[in-house]
Amino acid sequence: MAIQLSDTSLLRTECYVDGKWVSAQSGKVFSVENPSTTAQVAACPEFDVADTEAAIVVAQNAFKTYRKTTPRARSKLLRRWYDLMMENVDDLARIITAENGKPLADAVTEVKYAASFLEWFSEEAPRIYGDTIQASNPDCRLVTIKEPVGVCGLIAPWNFPAAMITRKAGPALAAGCTTVIKAPAEAPFSALALAELAHRAGIPAGVVNVITALDNTPAVGLSMTTHPSIKKVSFTGSTPVGKLLMKQCSSTLKKLSFELGGNAPFIVFEDADLDVAVRGLVASKFRITGQTCVCANRILVHRSVYDAFIQKVLDVVRTFEIGDGLGEKTTHGPLIHGRAVAKPLAHLGPNFFDITVLADMKPGMKICTEETFGPVAAFFAFDTEQEAIDLANDSDVGLAGYFFSKNASRCWRVAEALEVGMVGVNVGAISDPAAPFGGVKQSGFGREGSKYGIDEFLTTKMIMTGIDPQ
Ligand code: SIN
Repeated sequence: MAIQLSDTSLLRTECYVDGKWVSAQSGKVFSVENPSTTAQVAACPEFDVADTEAAIVVAQNAFKTYRKTTPRARSKLLRRWYDLMMENVDDLARIITAENGKPLADAVTEVKYAASFLEWFSEEAPRIYGDTIQASNPDCRLVTIKEPVGVCGLIAPWNFPAAMITRKAGPALAAGCTTVIKAPAEAPFSALALAELAHRAGIPAGVVNVITALDNTPAVGLSMTTHPSIKKVSFTGSTPVGKLLMKQCSSTLKKLSFELGGNAPFIVFEDADLDVAVRGLVASKFRITGQTCVCANRILVHRSVYDAFIQKVLDVVRTFEIGDGLGEKTTHGPLIHGRAVAKPLAHLGPNFFDITVLADMKPGMKICTEETFGPVAAFFAFDTEQEAIDLANDSDVGLAGYFFSKNASRCWRVAEALEVGMVGVNVGAISDPAAPFGGVKQSGFGREGSKYGIDEFLTTKMIMTGIDPQ
């Protein structure tokens, strides 16, 4: 076996549908490689449209009964799932490192982050409220109740192969929805291990279904976005794919939440604590070797502290060790695959790839307009606050933005001026189950995590009752 696990039954190589482990009807499989070694981790089923539709029907049938479960019962299921994740942190982390390449310590952090969404939404499930509203007609009484939206198609990315599953499935299950989860083709085994733990937690058959595909991904995606039984699609991935899925979903007008690409500005003002800003930059820019949607992409530094700040960043970056995620000294792993390497290369020039710091970048360069998704830190100098804000907002996307300043008034001014869904003020690590995660502009819509996340999986029903005034 390619992964050393204490509990070998966590490495599942079949899909999980209706509480059972199943192969593709065609018998086809695809191979998943460890990005550090290119050795095969294992193979898993190449689901097609018929397999996908069968899973959707299963989820639709399960919804009939699961929607009637009490919020407290759903809370207990999620809590049990959370406990099982925490009991298996090390094995789950080893699976993440094998399929994604991130260093084991980062994988452990991810497992705990992933589990925290199950804990969070186990606590939210019993706190779904409606309203009592004063009707305009004095002879009517008006209340709202919240209902689960229905079967949800959850399409998750490879960069957080556990956390992006639980951030979607946690609120879906808390709300009373059932799910068909398309695991990322590059890193499907975390999702399958989570399905195994969902099974052990006693989550009823058909509520969590996990399917896998590589070459058939576009067809499987089309099926999930057009099937009338799927009422909601939650997708994390690139903006171009989000646009395609939204178009496909329009045929049946599904409820959507999309967490798409970012191009995060990271501003260091002249009054910033530079050491705090360096720590923030390292946390934001180089997390998972630059492969998160909230990674700093354009680093804007006031000209008066520009050289000093870059020097401090270089001092830290030179201590990084790139290598196999299992290596004891490794601080940063590989990119996910060869195609991912091509993008930072295109931003840099041919035949060069490493943790990289680029100074004196100018607006209009490719790195300004595209998300790099790699470990390239690009620095720009600015002279005024307004110039920094204008540069920061000069983007079609608006997911995260960061800035560093010790001036309280400036902190409010700039936080309000940035056209993003999430702002880090004097902090570079903003991910938290309690925080609403999501973007504006072409970074998508909807919020994950937090008290808002469950709303994405609920609909509001109004009930008006006429009364006899006597
Ligand atoms: C992402 O990159 O999409 C998620 C990052 C996070 O949750 O911190």
